[in-house]
Amino acid sequence: MKPSNLSPFPKSFFWGASTSAYQVEGAWNEDGKGPSVIDMAPVVEGTTDFKVTSDHYHHYKEDVALFAELGLKAYRFSVAWTRIFPNGDGEINQKGVEFYNNLIDELIKHDIEPILTIYHFDLPYALQEKGGWSNRDTVNAFELYCKTLFELYGDRVKYWLTINEQNMMILHGDAIGTKSVSGENPMKDLYQQNHHMLLAQAKAMVLCHDMLPEAKIGPAPNISAIYPASSKPEDVLAANTFAAIRNWLYLDMAVHGHYNATVMAFLKEKDATPDIETNDMEIMAKAKPDFIAFNYYNSQTVAQSTGDVSDINPTGDQQITIGEVGAYRGTDNPYLVKNEFGWEIDPVGFRTTMRDIYERYRLPLIVTENGLGAFDKVKEDGSIDDSYRIKYLQQHIDQVQLAISDGVDVFGYCPWSAIDLVSTHQGCSKRYGFIHVDREEFDLKELKRSKKASFHWYHALINEHTA
Ligand code: BG6
Repeated sequence: MKPSNLSPFPKSFFWGASTSAYQVEGAWNEDGKGPSVIDMAPVVEGTTDFKVTSDHYHHYKEDVALFAELGLKAYRFSVAWTRIFPNGDGEINQKGVEFYNNLIDELIKHDIEPILTIYHFDLPYALQEKGGWSNRDTVNAFELYCKTLFELYGDRVKYWLTINEQNMMILHGDAIGTKSVSGENPMKDLYQQNHHMLLAQAKAMVLCHDMLPEAKIGPAPNISAIYPASSKPEDVLAANTFAAIRNWLYLDMAVHGHYNATVMAFLKEKDATPDIETNDMEIMAKAKPDFIAFNYYNSQTVAQSTGDVSDINPTGDQQITIGEVGAYRGTDNPYLVKNEFGWEIDPVGFRTTMRDIYERYRLPLIVTENGLGAFDKVKEDGSIDDSYRIKYLQQHIDQVQLAISDGVDVFGYCPWSAIDLVSTHQGCSKRYGFIHVDREEFDLKELKRSKKASFHWYHALINEHTA
């Protein structure tokens, strides 16, 4: 469907960009910061660790000045839980508090709206040692952490994201480095962790509305359109099942406060239904997000399960389906090309995803991640021609405009990433930023910042839409 007239982007649209604390800040053990699960996880062979990353902790003023020059209207970043509470709860670390005070003030000084993610993969290691999300006490620690952030930054931060990609931590925690399950039934433990995170998120939303009536808060899962490999009814059913497990479980709970029925049937079948305490569902139902933030990189295509382990793709990650015996298996989509890391590229699927989410929940949407990881090359004159990234982003922005023309309420687009950072499991040579950071996988060099071709392109695009 091609509209004869495209709706313009609203003037107030948040043209932004994103990062997360552990991937960009560095200073992993400085100024009182405690270790997170990421800091303690084994490093993937051949890739850098997360100790220095882009050293944004020491470069934040220079970086924010560049974001302003880029023309950003919004910046989506996360707070490192262990900078505020080195042990997950208990004593507050004033130096950590100060860092985010300074960062937020710097953004506001440059007229950039801060969009704050409360938790982006980096659970305090001290909490992990006590069982992490398997331990219900972590819900209380998260609530205390949220309350503290609302008190500290609620006077300046109006947009809050609860948990980044909870669905990817559950489905792809191995790749991201967040997975830790134990016991005789690891799948039940995993979905118990999921239940605790859903509860923690619900409590955060209720608390936010009580403490900061003017603020807005929402979940931030990774959502993909799910295609059936063919029109065979069994393939269509497999796609329907995967969409429930990957996407709707998370948003149905965040928005409607109930468990998705297909997922509950699936968990029952696997003997992995979480234990739900009295009052949990009341809290879930009371929590209401103001918007839905979501990350989109591509669509997924699945077929009917073959019923054996050949369904499983052990090299799956956030954007490559692993498969589930008896439910679905991932397949390539013959209509899509892949990026250098095997992730399919599907701009049209982005429009479908936005329509699907909006029709299902009728809440305003903001895109909090979308982007292309690539091996950028610095030319002899120091310039970086990342025209492949420009192409990817332009194609996806076109689809946002089409979705807006379809009647979807989209109020912001924050691609991944504002500046080069370290990928979750593929090192820092997999680059995403508009701003290049001069370092190699194992040679930190001087971490000098420079503007890529995409920087100039995005700057012009923002100007064009906001002038
Ligand atoms: C999302 C995460 O899954 O995708 C980010 O929220 C991540 O933290 C991004 O960096 C890109 O994935 P990757 O694996 O290339 O870093």
